[in-house]
Amino acid sequence: MKKILFVGSEFYPYIKTGGLGDAIASLLRAVQVSGKQATILLPGYRAITENIVHVHEVHEVLIPFSVVIRARLKKVTLKRQNAPLWVLDSAPFFHQPGGIYDETDNTEGHLNTLRFAMLAWAASELACGTITNWKADIVHCHDWHAALVPVFIRKKYSGLPGGGLLDDKRPKSLLTIHNLAFQGHCYRQYLGILGLEAFNVNDAQLNNPMTSFLALGIAHADRISTVSPTYAKEILSEEYGCGLQHKLASCGVRGILNGVDYNVWHPQTDPALDNVGYSFDADTRSSIKLGLQRDLGLKPHADIPLLSFTNRLTHQKMADVLIEAIPRLMEKGVQITAMGEGQDEYVEQFIRAAGSHKGQFSYVEKFSEVMEHRIHAGADICLSPSRFEPCGLNPLYAMRYGSIPVVRATGGLCDTVVDANLQSIRSGDANGITFKNANLNGLLSAIDGALTLFSNKPEWMKLQKNAMNASFLWQKAAIDYCEIYDELTKKTDEKLVIAACNTQDQADAGTLAVLQDEALKPQPELPAFAPLLNAVGAD
Ligand code: GLC
Repeated sequence: MKKILFVGSEFYPYIKTGGLGDAIASLLRAVQVSGKQATILLPGYRAITENIVHVHEVHEVLIPFSVVIRARLKKVTLKRQNAPLWVLDSAPFFHQPGGIYDETDNTEGHLNTLRFAMLAWAASELACGTITNWKADIVHCHDWHAALVPVFIRKKYSGLPGGGLLDDKRPKSLLTIHNLAFQGHCYRQYLGILGLEAFNVNDAQLNNPMTSFLALGIAHADRISTVSPTYAKEILSEEYGCGLQHKLASCGVRGILNGVDYNVWHPQTDPALDNVGYSFDADTRSSIKLGLQRDLGLKPHADIPLLSFTNRLTHQKMADVLIEAIPRLMEKGVQITAMGEGQDEYVEQFIRAAGSHKGQFSYVEKFSEVMEHRIHAGADICLSPSRFEPCGLNPLYAMRYGSIPVVRATGGLCDTVVDANLQSIRSGDANGITFKNANLNGLLSAIDGALTLFSNKPEWMKLQKNAMNASFLWQKAAIDYCEIYDELTKKTDEKLVIAACNTQDQADAGTLAVLQDEALKPQPELPAFAPLLNAVGAD
């Protein structure tokens, strides 16, 4: 049976900063259920290691960067998980205080470079069967955190006697991009530290100081995918390609739509709600709404439209446009409940809005999973405007609870949200409201459209019913991923050649333009490697 190793940085319910954690955990389960032998390697964050209930194997590893780093690769079972998985345990690197991607100072940024390189090295060795007798046929890498795995695998095989001839024996790699905007930029000198200088993909003659884990992963992975068909097309354009569009176009990107774990997002059995085991009808919804309004300090009234915004407060999520819209929305008499951390300037404005519109605007900065369930179950409208959105799971969760998403038609939202009008509501197709322009007018007119429908109870209830019946299944995604795994492991006559490294033809104009911009920025001194290790207290 083919063996698949997932590698990623987030895994619901243990460690999650957004949809990535949900997507990795649900997809892994769906792939396992489909009959494949799949497991995952995770960084040994505190939230992971403190949930270990059984350790099956421990392997000391010496990671051969310019300074050797000692860590432990453990096969473990976590609380509430049946299947064992792998953890790269190194407290000095993974038990840092603060958020898991905290880059508030340069050292943190550099620390991230190092720890995700460690994770990728360990994954490549595990996959190649050098650490245990377990060996993977496919490594499924998620986002930039795992993007160096294909590079370390290529390096390992190109260094073997016989080189390219053995290439078809190596584990094959699939890199799934969950968000192209996060690429894991690092200074090129780091490639020397990691032993990967021969694998850089940028034109050295440009004297460019930066490279990115994702650019390297894209150049060296066997297949690239992303999380929706529309985003797969969009990222080939200059507008959405973040400088990697040419590289992506030459590799080809497959878009596979994410799904929803309907065991977790299940209004009748949701432990976050009081109606567990009962029906989830209009009356239940109203009582959940009233309870929510009371708990959030909003005026309790079932007829006042309650709009939610449970996204990170970022430019991507159009938090700035929502801030601009607040005074106009307050005049319309609606209520808003917002939850989520984000950029400081937006957080401040949300706090200010909650202060000046007491009873009408509530804001909880700290994200809570339970509260997210209650908000989707009680709010009428789920605001999920985005300048770009690879997939967007939040609106799909809201739909299941009858909260109608208002989204910008971009990325995965084009593949999931069908705009409502009287005809599309009646035909059963509509499940939300979409708008095109990423500005105040675009957002306000979509909200106006939603409010008009809200005041027409029979139509609104039909729209809610459509949304609640919409189904986005991980099993469907798993079939498509399994097709890629099978393709990759199929023996072909095609001659597989080790990727040529560091050649000019691998540089592409778009990537270079972005990197050139970076090059013009003042460059901080790269800290020496040893002091960095001392700083994190590595052994
Ligand atoms: C990222 C994307 C989001 C996607 C999620 C899971 O968080 O920004 O659009 O739904 O990953 O793939």
